[in-house]
Amino acid sequence: MLVCDRIVRRDPSPAAEGAVRLRVALLGYGQVGSAVARLAARSGAGPGAAVDIIGALVRSTASRSACCPLTTEAATLVESGPDVLVEALGGAEPARQIVLSALERGIPVVSANKTLIATHADELLAAAERGGTTLRYEAAVIAGVPFLGTLGRRPYAGACRRIEAVLNGTTNFILSELEAGAPDFATALADAQRRGYAEPNPAKDVSGADAAEKLVVLLRHLGGLNATVSDIPTSGIGGITRPDLVSARDFGGTLKPVAFADWSDGCATAFVGPAFVPATHPLSTLHGADNGIRVYSEHLPPVLFAGAGAGPDVTAATILDDVIEATEATSSANHSASRPAFASPDRRDRDCRPQAARRTSWFVRLESKDPLPAAEIADLFASYGVWVHRTTDWSRRTALPTTWLLTHPCAGTSAHAALSALSSATGCIASRWPSLESGR
Ligand code: HSE
Repeated sequence: MLVCDRIVRRDPSPAAEGAVRLRVALLGYGQVGSAVARLAARSGAGPGAAVDIIGALVRSTASRSACCPLTTEAATLVESGPDVLVEALGGAEPARQIVLSALERGIPVVSANKTLIATHADELLAAAERGGTTLRYEAAVIAGVPFLGTLGRRPYAGACRRIEAVLNGTTNFILSELEAGAPDFATALADAQRRGYAEPNPAKDVSGADAAEKLVVLLRHLGGLNATVSDIPTSGIGGITRPDLVSARDFGGTLKPVAFADWSDGCATAFVGPAFVPATHPLSTLHGADNGIRVYSEHLPPVLFAGAGAGPDVTAATILDDVIEATEATSSANHSASRPAFASPDRRDRDCRPQAARRTSWFVRLESKDPLPAAEIADLFASYGVWVHRTTDWSRRTALPTTWLLTHPCAGTSAHAALSALSSATGCIASRWPSLESGR
């Protein structure tokens, strides 16, 4: 029997006696900034602390309604001496300049801005060090799943060498919708935009650029590797069709917007783009805007962190947790959780130019004016060291007759050579996407 009268609810009202009150300034009052303000107002004194939003930076104060004072002057906000500055502007500038000036003054900063962290983490963390304060960015990658801090605090779990992830909610949502029968790509994208998952310019989601920025943050945070977005071989989901997803299902898997990196062997191999994910791999179970990361540590079996990857409300919750942690870290002079997980001298600041994943199975689509005999395709592929594992019949429900293949693992260069030779010999259009291993 439950003894309910022993359960004491914490008083959520802002007037709760002895509540810690934090004065928080917001940079940006768009989808994320306004969600932070709403959640802070709704949460009162709990959980953790009362957050008073003392002001928000906006481009224009004209005809805006907000639950806090708005200003167009960043300096005014920073000089008002907030307990924490929350950066929700997006993009590199002017966010970088304002965040730098706050950190130099010793003001803790919380950011969900993957572009900013991917491009300026070193400079910002150095400024935080000088200012004796902290920079938190838990919401920058898989906004609703607090795993960066967890791995940062836990050297054994965090000693990872390989990650397989879905890092973009918009594209996972689009592919999930197409698989479930959405009429077309544009309808699914419009739905993702309506739900607040997509970037202001959704091309950044669709092209893979958003996930590549997040992968750069992870390479730095978990691997101590300095990579840039242009180092990551990246492709978008724009070419994926519903028949591709149906064929992937026939082969016992699905197509997901994957971010992959492996740095077990010196420098990293990495890619961002659609990939075949077998049904036995946990990333295949992520639907809608959910994201996940499978972390391969030196000391533990693989661990999956998964949950909501996008959306203003989940991002706001993670930001407010960061706000509370940031003030605790600053008051205890323990800023370590703001640093990359493995900033040990032997692994820090290694420059890295990731290569595309080298040896894997490939999911292949062939479109041809006239169907090609399967045996001839298999023979030609075999002459390049590429062995066909599965194949479909030719479909005529597509613009051109189309077939799909799944190969056994082979080098990317062999797959490329085999497909080029087939295209030259037959005039077919060949597309290929890598596969993740089974995940067992
Ligand atoms: N546009 C991003 C996504 C938002 O869809 O994942 C969260 O970073």
